[in-house]
Amino acid sequence: MNIVDREITKEELQAIYDDFKKIEIQDGLSQDESKRYNVVAEENGAVVGFASGLTQYEWFHLTDLWVHENHRRQGLGAKILKMLEDKIKPAGMRHVYTWTTGFINPKFYESQGYKAFTVFENYCGREGYHKVGYRKDFVELVIKPAKAEDLPRLLDLYTHLHNNPYPTITTEIENIWTRIINDPNHHILLGYIDEKLVTSCVVVIIENLTRGQRPYALIENVITHPDYRNRGHASLILDAAKDIAVKNNCYKIMLMTSAKQDSTLNFYRRAGYNSEDKTGFIQWL
Ligand SMILES: CC(C)(COP(=O)(O)OP(=O)(O)OC[C@H]1O[C@@H](n2cnc3c(N)ncnc32)[C@H](O)[C@@H]1OP(=O)(O)O)[C@@H](O)C(=O)NCCC(=O)NCCS
Repeated sequence: MNIVDREITKEELQAIYDDFKKIEIQDGLSQDESKRYNVVAEENGAVVGFASGLTQYEWFHLTDLWVHENHRRQGLGAKILKMLEDKIKPAGMRHVYTWTTGFINPKFYESQGYKAFTVFENYCGREGYHKVGYRKDFVELVIKPAKAEDLPRLLDLYTHLHNNPYPTITTEIENIWTRIINDPNHHILLGYIDEKLVTSCVVVIIENLTRGQRPYALIENVITHPDYRNRGHASLILDAAKDIAVKNNCYKIMLMTSAKQDSTLNFYRRAGYNSEDKTGFIQWL
């Protein structure tokens, strides 16, 4: 054997690629062809926006995203990216990933729900100019009302709420649980991903004699498992809680949080709650 420094021929390279393919087949991978999906924005026949990428099994590689400079900062990038995402979901895509560089693009992708999976800091030797890998997962959160058998998994999730310990399941706890489950005004929503409980919240409907006798709703125990945070799951479960309040003709929903971080407060604001209209008081008993 000689180990030498030389160019490789097209045929030699093809033989190597054929061997890669053989390994994939041995590993049981299907040989589905990658397919390109595009969205084009036009104005007077000229292309002013373009989003495009390739399917790779359940992963979509977003290869191009561009908006003409006259049309930037007007929501077009967000619109064509969303249109492309909506197009690829029915084609079985469960994730999107992309590579980007620069000062502006990370702001754009983060505003569209993309998460950085790796960062090459100061790429090209430019301070603050990073090369970033971004991904977005289309994993479906399935939201269901809690059922009698869900108690252990809910208590397990609650261990991540204010360091609440997992209690011994006594008859007293079982009785509380039975009362909650049988109370038509007490709703515990559970959000699952692939059968794993990842998020939950409680919404209680309270009967009322004022405001045209419309009830109001209280939200409590909003929690997402730490491994599944920052993916929008709690927003979805709060939306489902709001749907219950609306169906019950509630005139308002209230919640209190002990969180002080802007990120948590902004999360509630984005979900439609405000901290200006009322002053919250609490007395611990
Ligand atoms: C990245 C790009 C596609 C964004 O398109 P766009 O139409 O300007 O983006 P939008 O108007 O939809 O912006 C959506 C959000 O992204 C963020 N954003 C976009 N441009 C931003 C900028 N210049 N500064 C800060 N935030 C920005 C904002 O949060 C914005 O929401 P807001 O306007 O309500 O604040 C566009 O800048 C572009 O074509 N750049 C050149 C090509 C390129 O680098 N493509 C990316 C290759 S990976």
